[in-house]
Amino acid sequence: ALVRRVVFITGAVDMTTLPPADRGEAAFIGRSNVGKSSLINMATNRKSLAYTSKTPGKTQQFNFFAVNDKPGREKEVKYGDIVEGERDADSFYLVDLPGFGFAKAPEAQRKAWASFMGEYLANRKTLKVVFHLIDSRHGPIDEDSNIMKQVKENLPKNVAYVIVLTKADKNVKGNSKKNPGKVSEKVMDDLKQAMAESGVSYAPILITSAESKLGRDSMWRYLRLAAES
Ligand code: GTP
Ligand code: MG
Repeated sequence: ALVRRVVFITGAVDMTTLPPADRGEAAFIGRSNVGKSSLINMATNRKSLAYTSKTPGKTQQFNFFAVNDKPGREKEVKYGDIVEGERDADSFYLVDLPGFGFAKAPEAQRKAWASFMGEYLANRKTLKVVFHLIDSRHGPIDEDSNIMKQVKENLPKNVAYVIVLTKADKNVKGNSKKNPGKVSEKVMDDLKQAMAESGVSYAPILITSAESKLGRDSMWRYLRLAAES
């Protein structure tokens, strides 16, 4: 699919500050620093649309980016109101979430994000695909298993759920030109075990790098679900 235009729309902090549910959405979730914002930039071919940082905890709100919106609409978004007829047919939202497991965020803030995410996954009617990012060098941590369980319990079955292993370029050991995204057997085994224990073994696993753009096409197979809805 073609990215003609992509702009930041709004940062939501709870269900009442979400933009109008008038198009498909793809959400990026995962622990702090795993590469969510970088992958949004990679998928849209933008260098710094979503802000990234070496320091965990960069993204602090549910940031909505509109792909293929009509010029100027970002200034007209009215929270909670559905504004029709002001977008192109293939417009959709990319949603960059704050990372979980960010130890420096105040406890109350982390709780607020967690409960917002739960509500968002369960109730956002236009959500079409959830990308769950996991570092390809480390595999899942406890919080990833919790997310998987939450997805299993609360994410409506018509929403695609996709595991995305990130930063594959950093997996130098065993990498070759032929197989630049080689992930260790241990990480793969841990991941499959966590998925099985949480009942989400049905999820496809993509191997990506924001650096080398590995996996961009496979991501778009799922982004299309949001674009074409
Ligand atoms: P929070 O907003 O804190 O939750 O983090 P995030 O998940 O959005 O991570 P972000 O995209 O900000 O990336 C974190 C760090 O990892 C940055 O320094 C990125 O440059 C780096 N990074 C992200 N993706 C890749 C990748 O594919 N390869 C390499 N080498 N570095 C990456
Ligand atoms: Mg981020």
